[in-house]
Amino acid sequence: MTLRELYSLSKKMLSGASDSPGTEALLVLSAVTGLTKERILLSFEEQIEDEFSKRVLDLVQLRHDGFPLQYITKKCHFYGLELCIEQGVFIPRIETEVLVDLVLELIEREKLKTIVDIGTGSGAIAVAVALNSNCEVYATDINEKALLLAQKNAQRLGAKINFLKGAFLEPVRPFIDKIDLIVSNPPYVSTNATLSKDVLEEPLDALFAGEDGLDFYRQFFKEISLLENKHVVMEFSPEQRDWMEKLSFFGKVSFFHDQFGKIRFFHLKIK
Ligand SMILES: C[S@@+](CC[C@H](N)C(=O)[O-])C[C@H]1O[C@@H](n2cnc3c(N)ncnc32)[C@H](O)[C@@H]1O
Repeated sequence: MTLRELYSLSKKMLSGASDSPGTEALLVLSAVTGLTKERILLSFEEQIEDEFSKRVLDLVQLRHDGFPLQYITKKCHFYGLELCIEQGVFIPRIETEVLVDLVLELIEREKLKTIVDIGTGSGAIAVAVALNSNCEVYATDINEKALLLAQKNAQRLGAKINFLKGAFLEPVRPFIDKIDLIVSNPPYVSTNATLSKDVLEEPLDALFAGEDGLDFYRQFFKEISLLENKHVVMEFSPEQRDWMEKLSFFGKVSFFHDQFGKIRFFHLKIK
């Protein structure tokens, strides 16, 4: 079989399962060969070994069956950065790039010096903020695999971040006074929500937070209620907006939309 034939077969297999079967087929081929997409196109007429085609077609079948492309290519893109990703770690979403913009604007406007990203996952938010500001950045997670991957991403991209393991604010409590801003894209999906097969391949404790999706928030705000004079910037699900109104109890709250026009973030300035 030539590379062209393998590409065509892969594209055909993905046509019912993906909006961009050609691109995804090329990305799988690129992940297996280690060649760039351009190099693959230039090598289209080359014969390839059966063992190699089998590896490609097995992965294409996996993708066809709903396994996330990012877990196959082991790469994802966030805020103009190429991050490593792997199964067992949440795949960063494009909406969260707006959260990074909000954080960077605040850092600049309020001259903030120290921030913590709670539930850092692959390190997406922490790395983007560290590379685009002069802040001292801390990042936490309960997931050991996520922390190791985040550390790898930070090192690869030259971002200086202090990683800590633990739940909610516990890892930063010993030095909470010096933290100016807390950012988080926490688990906020309702356990009653119907999610697509590929999303369900992601770690469930990164997604779900009880029946109304607010379990993380309930505990988090108990802990926040003890703090003074901090900025908190977080992501939530649009249908949780009314519940978030309660935040005004702690200080001044502003809401922000994502790039699709949905209300998705708040900034709270704790009094
Ligand atoms: C929705 S993912 C977000 C990951 C990353 N910040 C991003 O935007 O791509 C939520 C992350 O929070 C972590 N997490 C869940 N519960 C947590 C808790 N109680 N304390 C700290 N991290 C938690 C999960 O392991 C997961 O990595």
